[in-house]
Amino acid sequence: KLYSIVDKDTCIACGACGMAAPELYNYDEEGLAYFLLDDNKGNTPIPEDLKLDAEDAQEGCPTGSIKLADVSFEGKIPEKR
Ligand code: F3S
Repeated sequence: KLYSIVDKDTCIACGACGMAAPELYNYDEEGLAYFLLDDNKGNTPIPEDLKLDAEDAQEGCPTGSIKLADVSFEGKIPEKR
């Protein structure tokens, strides 16, 4: 399974993720992205047919704010590296 969460602290509201994966990423009132399926908790697996979109979004984010992992994020943003 593949999970996703957006690091809103580093998101600059560029809008690329919602273009790459409109079914997975949406924007709050400030234009910052969040993972749509579980309100950015990162605990709902990405549907099989949307995994490529998620990977495109991750690759296209200029700030590395789209996080993907094969385990649930449980609402926590991974440590910055
Ligand atoms: Fe933000 Fe990256 Fe999306 S900067 S709007 S998470 S492409």
